[in-house]
Amino acid sequence: MMITQWAANALKNHVPLEADDISKRLETPPSPDMGDIAFPCFTLAKQFRKAPQEIAQSIAGAWDHAHITASAAGPYVNLTFDRGYYGSLMMEGLEQEKVPETGKGIRVVIDMSSPNIAKPFGIGHLRSTMIGAALYHMHKLAGYDVVSVNHLGDWGTQFGKQIAAYKRWGDDERLSADPIGESLNLYVRFHEEAEHDETLEPEAREWFRKLEEGDGEARSLWAYFVDVSMKEFSRMYDRLNVRFDYTLGESFYNDKMPAVVDSLKEKGLLVESDGALVVRLDEEGMPPCLILKKDGTTIYPTRDLATAIYRHDEMKADRLLYVVGNEQRLHFQQVFAVLRRMGMDWADSCTHVPFGLMKFEGKKMSTRRGKIVKLENVLDEAVERALAIINEKNPELESKQQVAEAVGIGAVIFGDLKNNRLNEVDFSLEDALNFDGETGPYVQYTYARTQSVLAKGAAAYGTAEDAMEETDPNAGAHHLGDAGWELLKLLTRFPEALERGVRNQEPSVLARYALDVAQSFNQFYNKERIVIEDAQVRKARLRLTRLAGRTIARTMGLLGIQTPERM
Ligand code: ARG
Repeated sequence: MMITQWAANALKNHVPLEADDISKRLETPPSPDMGDIAFPCFTLAKQFRKAPQEIAQSIAGAWDHAHITASAAGPYVNLTFDRGYYGSLMMEGLEQEKVPETGKGIRVVIDMSSPNIAKPFGIGHLRSTMIGAALYHMHKLAGYDVVSVNHLGDWGTQFGKQIAAYKRWGDDERLSADPIGESLNLYVRFHEEAEHDETLEPEAREWFRKLEEGDGEARSLWAYFVDVSMKEFSRMYDRLNVRFDYTLGESFYNDKMPAVVDSLKEKGLLVESDGALVVRLDEEGMPPCLILKKDGTTIYPTRDLATAIYRHDEMKADRLLYVVGNEQRLHFQQVFAVLRRMGMDWADSCTHVPFGLMKFEGKKMSTRRGKIVKLENVLDEAVERALAIINEKNPELESKQQVAEAVGIGAVIFGDLKNNRLNEVDFSLEDALNFDGETGPYVQYTYARTQSVLAKGAAAYGTAEDAMEETDPNAGAHHLGDAGWELLKLLTRFPEALERGVRNQEPSVLARYALDVAQSFNQFYNKERIVIEDAQVRKARLRLTRLAGRTIARTMGLLGIQTPERM
């Protein structure tokens, strides 16, 4: 945040505040011709027993700085930077690509994606996957030691149901033809028939009990479902370019749960309720947290308790993030509350990072009724549409299929991540692929434009390096024009966007930033000619173009989106 630091340092000589405090108060003037930065004098009024207007006047009157001018505008002091001087400093700073390493020495374990076995990978898990992946990259860049874990839903009563349904109606031929689709059919049929067949639910519970006890047949059926699911999930992760440091499903914690149950017992936290064992959370104003069911089988919260303890004790997590839908809010509050009751003071470093529901073109989903929008279908269609658009816009383009893949998938990811994560997303492919909207393809297209401008510069005036090389260190930014100056200032705010995105666990901050940079570059591109005869001007503008392209690619990279060189 260079420009605010310079402003704060200059203001420090005129107001009785620390530079940090000044930085926080700085604002952007409503229109760029008023100046680059505004300092509001309201809060100083009390201290000086003077009207803010007068204070602004006296600061501006006493102003004395070689490269920054000040003028009073009502209660504000507006500062204007010398573009040649500061512009060159800003460009040099940008070349370094440095961001403050605020997370040094802090290990963050991110629970992300975590789909359920034996179900298709639906668009519901896209959000956890992509928000998680973005948070992973963002934390990494901010210097954190990050570990991602895919907490597969591979344990629980639903596998009892899955096995019971298979035992009743399973057809091996159909299953091997379409393992996931057929598993889902079985699961849906289970719920339909269970409505009038009362023997089904107990049968399912019995199978899950057997599974937890390690029964051979139960285990091998379960292993089959895990195996076919992982194949499908891996295909999705490859396309989305998402990797995990660990894939440890709920089943991994099976042998770690007895210790948790014992410790709860020892601490006198377990009480009986209708034959089940629960931890009461009346004081926290929450319903009791179920730990062991009547038949002695474990449940989702029990597994999450064991998981959290493992991540803290074994993985040495300083912070635990859970990127999981908003509908599980109570679940995590309960789990964290039980940890606190167990005396784990680190429970406060556990954070649920919730997000809103994703609907697809208005449709809601329900796994139980088999209404799942398969991510694979959405991605295929997005890529197909992207290809059609490219064929129309740029039929000569090389490696069209590859570019279409990057654009189609980028459109889906960006269409998700540009929303404040807590908002519900009603996803529409048409909107997401609009090249002129606030979309991934718009940003990608702008990136490709920066690259084609650079190529044009290189073609006309030697290599790209020659074309951009800056000889006179002060020749930079006064050649950029107003739009170029605004773009340059915006580029220096990348660390600020990153910091805010990490602090709020909010990838949309970076998606918005990418849009802002793309818009700002396009304004610059439309207003100023870049590849022109005058070498000084051309070099400065090409340099800015290169820095803008780099910032766009970097920001999109944090979101897990590719930026093809040509589109
Ligand atoms: N598999 C769960 C679901 O799809 C999400 C698991 C989230 N992570 C966790 N530690 N509970 O609803």
